[in-house]
Amino acid sequence: METNYNPFSLAGKTILVTGASSGLGQATAIACARMGASLVITGRNADRLQETFDQLGDESATQILADLTVKEDLERLLAALPHLDGAVLCAGNSTTLPLQFGSREKFDEMFEVNFFAPIELLRLMYKKKVLNKGASVVLIASIGGTHSFMPGNGVYGASKAALNSVMKYAAREYASRKVRVNSICPGMVDTPLIHRGTITEEQLAEDAKRYPLGRYGHPEDIANGALYLLSDASSWLTGHDLVIDGGFSI
Ligand SMILES: NC(=O)c1ccc[n+]([C@@H]2O[C@H](COP(=O)([O-])OP(=O)(O)OC[C@H]3O[C@@H](n4cnc5c(N)ncnc54)[C@H](OP(=O)(O)O)[C@@H]3O)[C@@H](O)[C@H]2O)c1
Repeated sequence: METNYNPFSLAGKTILVTGASSGLGQATAIACARMGASLVITGRNADRLQETFDQLGDESATQILADLTVKEDLERLLAALPHLDGAVLCAGNSTTLPLQFGSREKFDEMFEVNFFAPIELLRLMYKKKVLNKGASVVLIASIGGTHSFMPGNGVYGASKAALNSVMKYAAREYASRKVRVNSICPGMVDTPLIHRGTITEEQLAEDAKRYPLGRYGHPEDIANGALYLLSDASSWLTGHDLVIDGGFSI
């Protein structure tokens, strides 16, 4: 019996994680390193990106500061990227913004970071052949794209629904080079993101009770899904939106 059988191994793979300075991106980068991948991590905050870097335990990892909504930063990041076997595009934001308090400017900001930035990065990584044949790309969407999970998140949800839509078209287009594109749709996960807004800790605790498995997600719950999608264990899976939400959307 083979003892080191592990179809989820990422040994030998080079993987980019955006949004690696916090939350889901940080947990994903650390999990990928633990599964043997070489990491390229990016974020905006130098101190927190360094914290992630220090936890990778891999001196050969690379960290690149970039604001993905700034064209020059995106181009600089692309120019610095090695050939990749995988990418997890986690960078994003969410603001509870009821329509009555919104504005076109604020909606554009939401779409810039949650939709246009990852789609542009995906498009250019494929076009410039940064993505190796057989690479796997994971977009972080949200159950907000299909469910009214929290009041005031309509435009956030729309940005994630749009992301999921392009994910499916990209999966079809990029299959010719055997590049897979999938997404993860998390429910509420305990990261700094959910504590920054206008929702109180009491409201969050009450909301968590609506989850059949009795809690919000841990960042590792999402990171583990990303490991599967990045690994050869999912090599026949593309164009799929993987819901990881403790049963919320049942
Ligand atoms: N937490 C949840 O409940 C939940 C649920 C569903 C989906 N999501 C999605 O999961 C993703 C990660 O969220 P999170 O919970 O991990 O949030 P988080 O802890 O706030 O982390 C967000 C990350 O995105 C980066 N980022 C934001 N704007 C950026 C920009 N313009 N350019 C480059 N990087 C940028 C941040 O970088 P800096 O900190 O360095 O600025 C940070 O690393 C987001 O797309 C979010 O919508 C989260």
